[in-house]
Amino acid sequence: MDPWHKKDGFSQKNRAIGEDWPRSAHTMVGVARLHNLADLAQEAIKQNIPGDFIETGVWRGGCCILMSGILAAYGDTTRKVFVADSFEGLPTPKPKRYIWDKDDPLHKYSQLAVSMEEVKANFAKYDLLSSNVEFIKGFFDKTLPTLSSNSFSLLRLDGDMYESTIVALENLYPKLSPGGFIIVDDYGAVEGCRKATDDYRRENNIGATLNVVDWTGVWWQKPA
Ligand SMILES: C[S@@+](CC[C@H](N)C(=O)[O-])C[C@H]1O[C@@H](n2cnc3c(N)ncnc32)[C@H](O)[C@@H]1O
Repeated sequence: MDPWHKKDGFSQKNRAIGEDWPRSAHTMVGVARLHNLADLAQEAIKQNIPGDFIETGVWRGGCCILMSGILAAYGDTTRKVFVADSFEGLPTPKPKRYIWDKDDPLHKYSQLAVSMEEVKANFAKYDLLSSNVEFIKGFFDKTLPTLSSNSFSLLRLDGDMYESTIVALENLYPKLSPGGFIIVDDYGAVEGCRKATDDYRRENNIGATLNVVDWTGVWWQKPA
């Protein structure tokens, strides 16, 4: 049986902590991680930390829609929201390069492949589709090295795998402004993601406190 099948049904408890793949919600991130995202996006604005917002791994787009809504609520038209995804699901593991992805099954799940058209349509439902939202289509190893932005104040990594996490860290963390925030959604849920995050922090001497959001989400602030 599909191991995720049991997660398909609605449960208030699972939704609160994002432990399901909801049928129709625009994000699978639960309430706790949505509050965390809203808090850090607002802190970036209030503390005048320069740079755009990005999520790598957007699924139906809900977290990017939330970031765009917060910018709109603050009347901030100077920052963009980057919406980065293959829009075709996760990549096939490359075990020779990323051993922690060897047995990762997530690329087999069609539930994780949401088209760019569907994500754009979701943005439109909130009247938030604007020129300040930039869609970055393709696998991260191809797209993230050539983004049009060189400055971010908020990074939200939600690509599950070791590869998807480490490629995002290598390409985006150097562009995170001092005082900026980084969220890693899958730190508790996916061993490869946790390993990639720990490897990157160790290799780059990042000692900033890792703050826990819930059973899986973590974040830290880049020292100013
Ligand atoms: C768990 S879902 C993201 C959930 C989403 N943040 C939300 O709010 O519901 C993972 C997403 O990451 C994308 N993804 C994972 N690895 C990727 C990669 N290397 N390149 C492009 N997209 C990737 C998948 O297509 C999928 O949409």
